[in-house]
Amino acid sequence: MKVVKTVKEVRDYVNSWKKEGLTVGLVPTMGYLHEGHGSLITKAKEGNDRVVVSIFVNPMQFGPTEDLESYPRDLAKDSKYCEELGADLIFNPEPSEMYADGFCSYVNMDVLTEELCGLSRPVHFKGVCTVVNKLFNIVKPDRAYFGEKDAQQLAIIKRMVIDLNMDLEIIGCPIVREEDGLAKSSRNTYLSAEERKAALILSKSIMAGKKMAEDGERDATKIVAEMKKLIESEPLAKIDYVKIVDSLTMQQVAKIEKPILCAIAVYIGKTRLIDNFSFSL
Ligand code: PAF
Repeated sequence: MKVVKTVKEVRDYVNSWKKEGLTVGLVPTMGYLHEGHGSLITKAKEGNDRVVVSIFVNPMQFGPTEDLESYPRDLAKDSKYCEELGADLIFNPEPSEMYADGFCSYVNMDVLTEELCGLSRPVHFKGVCTVVNKLFNIVKPDRAYFGEKDAQQLAIIKRMVIDLNMDLEIIGCPIVREEDGLAKSSRNTYLSAEERKAALILSKSIMAGKKMAEDGERDATKIVAEMKKLIESEPLAKIDYVKIVDSLTMQQVAKIEKPILCAIAVYIGKTRLIDNFSFSL
């Protein structure tokens, strides 16, 4: 497995694979890989002849008060993990390789980006759409893999691919959880021992909300109210949002009548964590 830093090197590898008629899967990441990313790489291995993992902490998707500088990074550990899982190439560019002097072209999406995380992270999805679009143009994958933990991101990328006629398949992969239920996230590393315990309130409320929907509750406001009550019982937790939205449009619904996403964002101390469940009738 090779680690390359430039767009040209990626293109040289991918072009040689394509000449041989091989298919390419891309797993876009910001590094500090965990089993959630591992499941994407494994899935990409199963579905493609070659797998590229991009590791790039994308400055464009962080707001001015967010954790760009402190975001955890460990390329040596990530490389070892990718090698073990059988990835073929890591693309680990510097910001200057992705955003050359004079950069001023962006991918912007309305509607889906205006709810949930888009409200508290106004620049986030413009940065995500732009970088993911660039990665697709650089790697030209047949398939790209994203985690369902970032459910809004996944819906947005699927929409972008349809709207902009991109010629690849987007594959969503299930949330991977710790044994006690906490969804795996690179940001879990920020939690103190006490906060780590408190963070379980996210998955507990997700389980409680899911059970209500599965037991037949169709009033979204009742489910949200119960989930909020549960989260508020944890003194270290501060709710950013708990919402039930249409799975495709990310717009809030009052009644569950078609496939929905129930998404939450909760601060545990200073760390903002997300979780979700999907439900179809
Ligand atoms: O989900 C992430 O890690 C990032 O948002 C992504 C898709 C790699 C874009 O930077």
